[in-house]
Amino acid sequence: MAAMATFTPQFLDEIRARIPVSSVVGKRVKLIRRGREYIGLSPFSNEKSPSFTVSDEKGFYHCFSTQEHGDIFTFLMKTQNLSFPEAVERLAEEAGVEMPRQSREDVQEAARVTLLQQAAEAGCGIFEEALRGSEGRRALAYLKESRGLTEETLKRFRLGYAPNGNVVKSKLLARGVKEDLLLETRLVSPGKDGRESFDFFRDRVMFPITDARGRPVAFGGRVMGDGEPKYLNSPDTPLFHKGQMLYGLSLAREKASAEREIIVAEGYMDVIALAQAGFTNAVAPLGTALTETQLALLWRFAPEPILCFDGDRAGRAAALRAADRALPVLKPGYSLRFAIMAGGKDPDEICRRQGPAAMAEILAGAVPLSEVVWSQLLAEHPADTPERRAGFENHAMAKAGQIADETVRNQYRQMFKNKLYELFRPAPFVPGRGGAGKGGFRGKGGVRTGARTGRASAFPQVFPRPAAGTEDMRGMSARVLRERILLATALNHPEIVERVEERLGALAFSDARLDSLRQSALLHLAQTQELDFATLRGQLASQGFAQELANLLDSDIYVHAGFAKPQASAAQALAGWDHTYALIQRADLEADLKRAEQDVAENPSEQTIAAYNALYEQTVPVEDDEQDAGRG
Ligand code: UTP
Ligand code: MN
Repeated sequence: MAAMATFTPQFLDEIRARIPVSSVVGKRVKLIRRGREYIGLSPFSNEKSPSFTVSDEKGFYHCFSTQEHGDIFTFLMKTQNLSFPEAVERLAEEAGVEMPRQSREDVQEAARVTLLQQAAEAGCGIFEEALRGSEGRRALAYLKESRGLTEETLKRFRLGYAPNGNVVKSKLLARGVKEDLLLETRLVSPGKDGRESFDFFRDRVMFPITDARGRPVAFGGRVMGDGEPKYLNSPDTPLFHKGQMLYGLSLAREKASAEREIIVAEGYMDVIALAQAGFTNAVAPLGTALTETQLALLWRFAPEPILCFDGDRAGRAAALRAADRALPVLKPGYSLRFAIMAGGKDPDEICRRQGPAAMAEILAGAVPLSEVVWSQLLAEHPADTPERRAGFENHAMAKAGQIADETVRNQYRQMFKNKLYELFRPAPFVPGRGGAGKGGFRGKGGVRTGARTGRASAFPQVFPRPAAGTEDMRGMSARVLRERILLATALNHPEIVERVEERLGALAFSDARLDSLRQSALLHLAQTQELDFATLRGQLASQGFAQELANLLDSDIYVHAGFAKPQASAAQALAGWDHTYALIQRADLEADLKRAEQDVAENPSEQTIAAYNALYEQTVPVEDDEQDAGRG
């Protein structure tokens, strides 16, 4: 058995990526987590107090009493007396990685990989030089001026320029690199029909892709300006296996392992812009959906990597694909979070236009995988009758069934059941009415979630639905501003609550804290006949909303809405409230309409057209059509 001699570093790395040291060691030594490492009694000595440490991130163990040090392979060799190939074979099997058929050719292959690495490194150097030469002037301007990158960033990521002509080929041949190596790394393409081979990348800005140790193994090249394809990437080569690497990992690993947090963006430029903005723990898959190997790699650094996705249609679809990909391989303590960026933006644009603080906020707002899955279930399956709820429950349980790990699977099932119960419990804050949102203020084409059950607040809006025309930050806050106005007006004027409570009950606020305040306020208001403001404020404060209330009621909203002030008359307050509510509704309707229009454009079917028409019918102009509720 296991008579083979050499394995490629990539093969060994793949096994290491899939099996944490702690799981190998943990079979023999009782390990206790201590910070980012584990500690236990050394298997190499007879000690009473633990001096044996294991680090999954670093991929090794260390024994302070015997100075034994090694990885998963050496651990098995030392503790079970296996040869290296035997240890590899055993762990390859455990990892589900197929053993390479080792032969003389494989040995030669390993040697060849080294030569290929040298060729790729040389190519990288040529691109870097060219960026600084006269031929690279336009590329340098593109990176610095159009893309806002600093000198430091260019160096950190070793960005370069691939000139026109056969520069790489001629320079490397002149340095004695063999042509077949250039062809194999795909720095050079074979010429068809007997023509000469030529440089693969020409007149492109170059992004070297490195292995986990920072050695260039492949490249991505971007056109400056428009042109197809936007990015040209090296194909898989003996050095480069797209699905097993993450762009930027060698640079991200330091911060990622120190903070146990890693950010996954979609593209090269996102990783680079994030790093320049201080988020040096960002990586990207290479133009494909996250693979299982990449997930395992991410989990070595952080228990819950944050995946960044655009909130547009394509981004949502990509997020859902990633969620589906992750479900089967979830394990206790390990998951994903999703940071969704509104309005067709990517982290590069957020960092550049809105700044690091805005990016940090988006990352801080990342939602757990479980919420993404739940909100998708709600979006896909109606649950507004007992039969549909039963169907919904089956779908939810089947979804959880995709999780291989039993403990995690059970937790998901439990969570789904709890949420279902929460969702269909009668709404407590609108007494005497089943389902506050009945009749649906959003209309037929609108969201299925929320409006349908009248407990919209039970589901976090994983994918924010910005109101029409509010795809920028200013617009987003217009919605929140209106929400604040509605709530402040109602709190300052309990006498109008009877007239507004149904609508206020059905309108989920986009701001989560404000939404909790809304619900609590409604609950108090519904429970008492005569509630004065001071009592209400006292009750809410005792529930932990004191700060929230103070922020709300002492805020600048009165500048926008004088009718919200306590001094305004009940009639003014009600009129102002109605107007503000109508503006929100109209913005929502416009957003739905825009989406429906897009649906029709993408797939003009009877269904999409009917949905659009139904929405269109509702677009009655709001009377008193001024820009905002900004008068008082
Ligand atoms: P995007 O089209 O989102 O581009 O592709 P981007 O990263 O925002 O790039 P800029 O800002 O326009 O420069 C995301 C990733 O998908 C891969 C690349 O890895 C890219 O970074 N991609 C995209 C390709 O491989 N080829 C393409 O033609 C386009
Ligand atoms: Mn971009």
